[in-house]
Amino acid sequence: MAAQITALSLMQDAPVIPVIVLHRTEHAVPMAEALLAGGIRVLEVTLRTPQGLACIEAIAKAVPQAIVGAGTVRNAADAAAAANAGARFAVSPGYTSALGQACRKLDLPLLPGVATSSEIMAAQEDGFGELKFFPAVQSGGIQMLKAWQGPFGDVRFCPTGGISPVNAAEFLALSNVVCVGGSWLVPGSALENGHWSQITDLAQATHKLRA
Ligand code: 3PG
Repeated sequence: MAAQITALSLMQDAPVIPVIVLHRTEHAVPMAEALLAGGIRVLEVTLRTPQGLACIEAIAKAVPQAIVGAGTVRNAADAAAAANAGARFAVSPGYTSALGQACRKLDLPLLPGVATSSEIMAAQEDGFGELKFFPAVQSGGIQMLKAWQGPFGDVRFCPTGGISPVNAAEFLALSNVVCVGGSWLVPGSALENGHWSQITDLAQATHKLRA
């Protein structure tokens, strides 16, 4: 990856961006190392648990080969806290201009979430052309992405929400999909039981998904 991180470079790094939910800070570093061992270095650690920021900080310090970012970034305060913890990018479930502006000021690459044509237009108006489609399966999935190829042929998507090893390849085969996001790479049970090699195996398996 080039030194300058962009939403597109993050999306192109691997077929899947893992969406990670951590409840214990001590899980962060071995989890990140397990994903790296499986060839996944772009990691989205969500801010939906109280430990999210501390986990980002731990990974940023101890696993410099990883490119750790914050997920579930919903407003300017979340973005500032994420950047302060060492996040190198932000992913949001939806889009507001205030969030877009805040990330620009922080120099924090943002992958904003959209689920409708109007939201795509709002994000594009603010200069965001690489977007997370969230929640993808619940919002129309493959058919929605195909429908958007007409009016929004210039937009590249990372569908997230309801993606699994069963349907990921079908999403990745679409011309407007660069990568997908999903939580299946980091099962809660693997974290709780310290089954790090299971996480490595799940990460390894994703490289076969992109044709
Ligand atoms: C999320 O924000 O929870 C992600 O979209 C993950 O969705 P998934 O659990 O369906 O992969």
